[in-house]
Amino acid sequence: MKKDFRVVVLISGRGSNLKSLLERAENYSIVGVVSNKPEAPGLEYARSAAIPALALSRKDYGSLADFKQALFEKVASLSPDLVCLAGFMLIVDAPQVERFSGKIINIHPSLLPKFPGLDTHERAIAAKEKEHGCSVHVVSAEVDAGPLIAQAKCEVFPSDTPESLASRVLGFEHRLYPWVVNQVAVGNIALSPTSVLVREEGNNAAQEQGFLIV
Ligand code: GRF
Repeated sequence: MKKDFRVVVLISGRGSNLKSLLERAENYSIVGVVSNKPEAPGLEYARSAAIPALALSRKDYGSLADFKQALFEKVASLSPDLVCLAGFMLIVDAPQVERFSGKIINIHPSLLPKFPGLDTHERAIAAKEKEHGCSVHVVSAEVDAGPLIAQAKCEVFPSDTPESLASRVLGFEHRLYPWVVNQVAVGNIALSPTSVLVREEGNNAAQEQGFLIV
């Protein structure tokens, strides 16, 4: 398949989701990686895979708004069809959400709308949840609240620690995120800023994988 669907990935750290997006790219190409942290380990991984990877430093910009604007200028210069946040720890403001309207997605380690924000695994254990998991959603101006695309669930065991649960969920993240991007790239999932349309092929494929289309 010709992989002319252009994906740009934004990261702030480790980059394990970036790695899985790269390894499982069947219908898309990752054309660039952009980071707000020059020391993000994921950048090295991207470079070793010959993907253009660049980072900007907060200290080079007067205001946070200018910094975010500059980061997203870099993203725009790569002409993405889809922008994937993968452990990107800056809030995307309304101007950027509008600029890439319906074309920015995020992976979050909880079954949204449960546990938006940080420390999701600790909070799931504290709330005695029986199930936990991860969600891929369209990014809106409200944090972790845009339209849901798909989720993967796992069990929470009585013996779980936040670390053991995080590691189980991460395994699901690594399958779910590339799956969603591949489905978007072939048109089985169509995104808009306010809604997600999943065609029958997408629903069938989700069922085969055990993913939930919400
Ligand atoms: C993942 O758990 C992701 O869901 C969250 O941040 C973490 C990033 O991990 N948004 P990595 O950098 O992809 O390894």
